[in-house]
Amino acid sequence: MSGKVALVTGGAGGIGTEISRKLMQEGYRVVVTCAPVFECPNLDAWKQERQAEGMDIPVYEADVSDFASCAAAVGRIEKEVGPVDILVNCAGITRDATLKRMTEQQWNEVIDTNLNSVFNMTKPVFMGMLERGYGRIVNISSINGRKGQFGQANYSAAKAGMHGFTMAVAQEGVSKGITVNTISPGYIGTDMVKKIPEEVLKKIVAQIPAGRLGRPDEIARVVAFLVHEDSGFITGANIDINGGQFIH
Ligand code: CAA
Ligand code: NAP
Repeated sequence: MSGKVALVTGGAGGIGTEISRKLMQEGYRVVVTCAPVFECPNLDAWKQERQAEGMDIPVYEADVSDFASCAAAVGRIEKEVGPVDILVNCAGITRDATLKRMTEQQWNEVIDTNLNSVFNMTKPVFMGMLERGYGRIVNISSINGRKGQFGQANYSAAKAGMHGFTMAVAQEGVSKGITVNTISPGYIGTDMVKKIPEEVLKKIVAQIPAGRLGRPDEIARVVAFLVHEDSGFITGANIDINGGQFIH
């Protein structure tokens, strides 16, 4: 896979780090984007940890909720690293609250960061993929976009919307060598899940037949499979990875 450039948004987060590591191991040239630097307090430590693992991963600032910021970042990456062959839309946030308590700001932040982000980042990358006749796009959705979740009207709506985008753009891309797929992870042990109150999380884990939270590497290996050159016949799919918590 040497030479192919893989861009991972939220690539310094819990799942994003593991995706970046896995794609690096598979021989891709990995680039990650993170939120503007003032919101990435741990970025220097993250870079040092990767360097200690022998991985030099360029990090570009891009606010995924902002189209101009994404377009500018893609422009810089394509100029400095090379055309993007693989895009993993992994950045995301939660602002959990019951609908009764949810503010307009909590709604908008989640829709902007988890759903509009997919348009903001994919559109500038997709144009080049169309020209070159090759691309692999993976959108990281969620079990809660599949089944809904108490306290997550904003997040469930955004994550369900991601797969609508996947299915539409998969149809536009397939004759041009571009695949677009969704992965819907269940509860994975990252900072995002650690924010759930302990008592609530205990009840959630009790609903997972596998009896545990998932691990980021269990998501990363499926990303690596989907973005492989030989996976060109898989498109528009939504792959559940949830320890049996939601089977349909
Ligand atoms: N179903 C039905 N009723 C529920 C419920 C559920 N799942 N959860 C709570 N309730 C009930 C409670 O029993 C309580 O009832 P009473 O008023 O009769 O006592 C009422 O709803 C209020 O519950 P809370 O005290 O929990 O309400 P709160 O306002 O303090 O908190 C909440 C609400 C913030 C949504 C909290 O329940 C919570 O954090 N839930 C977890 C939501 C969740 O799963 N988030 C996932 C984050 S990680 C992620 O998103 C990654 C991913 O993709 C998987
Ligand atoms: P995480 O560790 O909190 O990582 C989220 C990443 O998104 C962070 O790197 C964060 O960057 C980035 N981000 C947030 N807002 C951004 C913005 N406006 N612009 C650019 N980057 C932004 O959480 P995670 O668990 O790895 O989640 C990764 C993805 O998987 C998310 O889309 C999440 O919804 C999804 N997912 C997670 C789970 C789970 O259980 N953990 C389950 C299903 C789906 P900063 O750190 O710089 O803010």
